[in-house]
Amino acid sequence: MSFVSHVECTVCGARHDAKRLLTVCERCGQMLAVCYDLARVAKAVTREALRSRPPGMYRFRELTPLDDGEEPVTLGEGGTPLLALPRLAAHLGLGRLWAKDEGQNPTGSFKARGLGMTITRSRTLGARGFVIPSAGNAGGAAAVYGARCGRPVAVVVPRATPAGAIAEALIAGAHVFTLEGSIATCGRIVAKVAPRVGWFDLSTLKEPYRLEGKKTMGLELAEQLGWRMPDVLLYPTGGGTGLVGIPKGYEELRTMGWVTGPLPRFVAVQAEGCAPVVKAFHEGAETTAAWENPAATEAPGLRVPSPFAGRQMLKILRDTRGDAVAVSEKEIVDAQHLVARLEGIWTVPEAAALVATLVRLKERGAITREAETVMVFTGAGIKYAPPALPAPTDLTGGDDEIVERVIRALRV
Ligand SMILES: Cc1ncc(COP(=O)(O)O)c(C=O)c1O
Repeated sequence: MSFVSHVECTVCGARHDAKRLLTVCERCGQMLAVCYDLARVAKAVTREALRSRPPGMYRFRELTPLDDGEEPVTLGEGGTPLLALPRLAAHLGLGRLWAKDEGQNPTGSFKARGLGMTITRSRTLGARGFVIPSAGNAGGAAAVYGARCGRPVAVVVPRATPAGAIAEALIAGAHVFTLEGSIATCGRIVAKVAPRVGWFDLSTLKEPYRLEGKKTMGLELAEQLGWRMPDVLLYPTGGGTGLVGIPKGYEELRTMGWVTGPLPRFVAVQAEGCAPVVKAFHEGAETTAAWENPAATEAPGLRVPSPFAGRQMLKILRDTRGDAVAVSEKEIVDAQHLVARLEGIWTVPEAAALVATLVRLKERGAITREAETVMVFTGAGIKYAPPALPAPTDLTGGDDEIVERVIRALRV
């Protein structure tokens, strides 16, 4: 049985019929969100009952928009580990520090959750094919889940998109288009193509189902911390699916009485060359303004000049007494090396920006040793071109000579 009550506009509150394939609010054009009969969910399932369910995002099935008996299009999304980072914490002078390692998802990024969920649900509601503008990972994930359910997918990405994500989409049989410009340019094209070909537009938060997948990060985090919320949560912010989705998950659990207390302080992190959320937050604006000439960045997922959900992200940052920080390219690269050396995690540059932010927050006394802190490591670094690294030591000569050289180099 589905526990969805209706779909609601996040701005004007207009109610929409959840049985229809929806995009944005039909009254005001803003972002929609799926609402549940949470009292009924709380009666139907307990925290204890979850323990016997397999890991993965459908373990929280009652809090997903799936109908009774609806089979998810899945590759095993979710159930990613919450890794303690004691060596990084000690290095930064922090206490309890965690990374939700979303790089361990199928497709190597957290995009698997949102795209798996929206392709599942929108297919059931009648979508015949999918078109998506992307910075790379979302397009790759859309292609993969489209293949998994035998539906065609078209992906439009900026030319500078990492080759791994383009290959992921191509090998899954998607139509892949690259162009000069940012995801905003791609979005304009997709908005015109989708209605003409009759395929569903999967643009970030311009349909209500992707958020329900991203929300499961919050549900998992709550369970993994023993039904507690951390004090601070850092999120690498582009279109903001997780920044809007994680608090949605927490709020639902709070309404059900599964967690109590205040939400964590959410910290949005962007790259200096394209930081519309950071700018709007510090200017006290109600929504984001388009960022002119977004610079190229090591972290392409953060290069979103006009996020559709700017208003919703800013509200979350303010409601939780959060913060917004923009970091430089050098800080991102240094932080990527730092977390790999100290914790063995080769994370994406987008997530490395969070580590760089912690360094900043610590320096200006904006985070204390007592604050339990979670970072969302959104993808696996191995998906991207390797960063600049020293060359390996090449060995030539006979075995004995090689052995001596190796031992000298190791200096043990
Ligand atoms: C690895 C990675 N991290 C973070 C982001 C930003 O995510 P969101 O659009 O949900 O803010 C993206 C988006 O492309 C991404 O691929």
